[in-house]
Amino acid sequence: MSTRLAPAHPPEAAGGSAPGGTLVEVSRLTKIYKVRPRLLSKPRPLTAVNDVSFAIEPGGTFGLVGESGSGKTTIARIIMGAETATTGSLRIADHHFGARHDDAGDAWRHRFLQPVLQDPHGALDPAMRIGRIIDEPLRVQRPLPDEKAYRARVADLLGQVGLPPAFADRLPGALSGGQRQRVAIARALALDPKLLVLDEPVSALDVSIQAQVLNLLKDLQDRHGLTYLLISHDLAVVAFMATRIGVLYLGQFMELGGRRSVLERPAHPYTQALIAAAEPALDQAVPVSGEIPSPLDPPLGCSFHPRCHKAQARCRVEKPLLRPVGPDHWAACHFAET
Ligand SMILES: Nc1ncnc2c1ncn2[C@@H]1O[C@H](COP(=O)(O)OP(=O)(O)OP(=O)(O)O)[C@@H](O)[C@H]1O
Ligand SMILES: [Mg+2]
Repeated sequence: MSTRLAPAHPPEAAGGSAPGGTLVEVSRLTKIYKVRPRLLSKPRPLTAVNDVSFAIEPGGTFGLVGESGSGKTTIARIIMGAETATTGSLRIADHHFGARHDDAGDAWRHRFLQPVLQDPHGALDPAMRIGRIIDEPLRVQRPLPDEKAYRARVADLLGQVGLPPAFADRLPGALSGGQRQRVAIARALALDPKLLVLDEPVSALDVSIQAQVLNLLKDLQDRHGLTYLLISHDLAVVAFMATRIGVLYLGQFMELGGRRSVLERPAHPYTQALIAAAEPALDQAVPVSGEIPSPLDPPLGCSFHPRCHKAQARCRVEKPLLRPVGPDHWAACHFAET
């Protein structure tokens, strides 16, 4: 048990660097929305993302895990340029993005990174043939000389995701969920991106299909040297894929670090509870109980304290900051095991 107070601002924002260099560096990102809890009530601030820093090494997979509403998609949307941060900054390769909109940077970003989202059904236009869905980004951004070239590129991309070329003529409605997600991945690869933002890429799929799609993503990562931001509420998915892991709770990192540190030596009671829930056979920790509090009325002190079996008086008044608990390993808990 440590009673050392974390500095108000960790020297290099905790988690802001990764062994092996960084392709993506997220620095002290905060996103505050104004929401009206009821139609006629005054807008109130909702902190969706609270001072989040992390880094992704080239060719690595950063796994962002957390319950619904913890801020995962908000972080992804800021990285993709679909949303601007309230404060904080972002570096992708050698491009820097601040809180202000940057058209030139956005154009570059659209080539450099591509999303693969949760709902393969909603993401694919039901009236468009698969071939056109896959080659559309090329037609818009990097046109090929003729139709034959498009057909060849589509056949190549379908092959890369394990689908036969004849799928180019089908409509999305004729495909299974797993096949649709393969099409979404093929489309994401069309412009040769370096970074894929995978927001719950398998959560709409049957468990048996999830492993196939995750293995495909691993193969593609190896073949193309891709870097992934992988978002999931499912720790098992993140554990299978990630090189580094960040555990989010109400917009803040509870724990952050290399995959093995976080999974084998979890320092935060919340991470310990997530691991216990993912592996019910293990009797390591008390599974987390109760509901996640409203982000409009976050608890004082440590945001996890109302659900924490280790909580003490200090946790109700003093917010723990991320502090080092090992090499490339941080936790935000006054009583984190080091
Ligand atoms: N455009 C918005 N306006 C107001 N509040 C928002 C907006 N987008 C997200 N939020 C709020 O921000 C918080 C974080 O939402 P976010 O979608 O990032 O969570 P998430 O971790 O992706 O959840 P899920 O697992 O359900 O997808 C939530 O409380 C959500 O209600
Ligand atoms: Mg989400």
